[in-house]
Amino acid sequence: MLNFDFHNPTHIAFGQGRIADLAKLVPATAKVLILVGGASAEKTGTLAEVRAALGDRQHATFNGIEPNPSFETSMRAVVQIREGGFDFLLAVGGGSVIDAVKFIAAAVNFEGSDPWAILEKGGRNITGALPFGTVLTLPATGSEMNNGGVITHRAKGAKLAFGSKHTYPVFSVLDPTKTYTLPTQQLANGVVDAFVHTVEQYLTYPVNAPVQDRFAEGILQTLIEIGPRLLAAPEPVYDDRANLMWAATMALNGLIGAGVPQDWATHMIGHELTALHGIDHARTLAIVLPALLNERRVPKRDKLLQYGERVWGITTGTHDERITAAIERTRDFFESMGIRTRLSGYGLGADAVDTVVAQLEAHGMVKLGEQREITPAVSRRILEAAL
Ligand code: NZQ
Ligand code: ZN
Repeated sequence: MLNFDFHNPTHIAFGQGRIADLAKLVPATAKVLILVGGASAEKTGTLAEVRAALGDRQHATFNGIEPNPSFETSMRAVVQIREGGFDFLLAVGGGSVIDAVKFIAAAVNFEGSDPWAILEKGGRNITGALPFGTVLTLPATGSEMNNGGVITHRAKGAKLAFGSKHTYPVFSVLDPTKTYTLPTQQLANGVVDAFVHTVEQYLTYPVNAPVQDRFAEGILQTLIEIGPRLLAAPEPVYDDRANLMWAATMALNGLIGAGVPQDWATHMIGHELTALHGIDHARTLAIVLPALLNERRVPKRDKLLQYGERVWGITTGTHDERITAAIERTRDFFESMGIRTRLSGYGLGADAVDTVVAQLEAHGMVKLGEQREITPAVSRRILEAAL
C-alpha cells in the first residue's frame, strides 16, 4: 500500500427529514447566501424547506448556477457576497451547484487579481474560503464530501478542476427523498459517474490494498445491482435512492482512493468533451472509459482480471478473453442505463478528435493515468477507438 493522509472533516446528516437539521448545522448568527441552480430547487419545494429551517437567520438566494458551472456566473455570486456581507454559503443542488459554491467560497477573499488563477493552479493557491454547507439533490459527483470542484470558463472554452483543504463542506445534508424528482437521465448519470469514480481509483495496478479493493468492488456491485432497478421503478423506492446516494458519496470522499494509485484520465478527457460539445459529464465518461480500458489492457491487466472475476463473475477463458469480456460488460452496463458509449451516439465524428487532443495539450494534460503514460497520442487512440 502507498503512504497516505486521510482527513475528511465533512459532517454528513443523512436521511429523510434531515433538512430541518439546518437549524442546528448553520451557525446561529450567520448571514447566509443560499445558492441554487435553475428552477428545480424551487419547483420541488426543497428551497422552501431550506428557508424554513434557517428560521430567523438573515438570508438571500443566488439563482442560476448552470450545469457545468461557469466562472462567469460564479463571479456574479462573488460580487453579491462581497456587497451583501454574507459569511456562510449554502449550496442546494447537485454537483454543479456544490462545485460552484466551493469556487465562490475560495474566490471571495482570493488575493490575486484574477480568481481564474485558482483553476490554473488547481487550487494550490487557495489560502482560505468562506465556510459552506450543502443540501444534496442529485447523487453523482461526491462533491458533497470532498474538496474538489470543476469550473468552466465559457469564454476560454476550458473546464478545469481544483481542490484545497479549505474547500470541504462543513456539512452536507443527504436526504434521499430529495432525489425523487430527478429525471431518469440524471439518475442514470449519477450511477455512471459514481461507477467511473470508483473505477478510476481501483482499476490501476495492484499495491496489496485489499480493504480499498473490496470497498471499491462493493460500491461497483451495489451500483450494478440498483442501477437498473432505479430506472425501472414506477415510483421511487427509498432504500434504492438511499443506497445510490451513499454509494456516490463513498465513491469520491477519499476513502477508497487512500493509499492506492489513481488514474483520472477518463475524467480529464471527458471534461474536454463537455467543454467543447456540452455532453453531460457522466456521458463523456461512458464514451471514454471502455476505450481507455481496452487501450490500457496490458498495464492494467492484473486489476482488469480481478475486476472481471470479482465484479462480473468472469472466471473462464484466456486472460485476454476475460479482459475483453470485463470491458464489454462495463459497456453493456452503461448502455443498459440508457447511456450511449460512442462518440457517434452524440453526433460526433473523427473531426472531433483533433480538437479534443489539442485542448488536452493546451491544458497540460499530456501525461495522464496512473503510470503517466497517456500522452496526447494515446488519448488520440482512445478517442478514435471510441468513435
Ligand atoms: O439546475 P437545476 O434546475 O437545479 O437542475 C439540475 C440540473 O439541470 C437538475 N437537478 C438537480 N437536482 C434535481 C434536479 N432536477 C430535479 N430534481 C432534483 N432533485 O439536474 C441537472 C444536472 O445537475 P448537475 O448539478 O449539473 O449534475 P451533477 O450532480 O451530475 O454535477 C455535474 C458537475 O459536477 C462535476 C462535473 O464535471 C459537472 O460539472 N464533477 C464534480 C466532481 C467533484 N466535485 O468531485 C467530480 C465529478 O467527476 C465531476 O467532474
Ligand atoms: Zn465524475
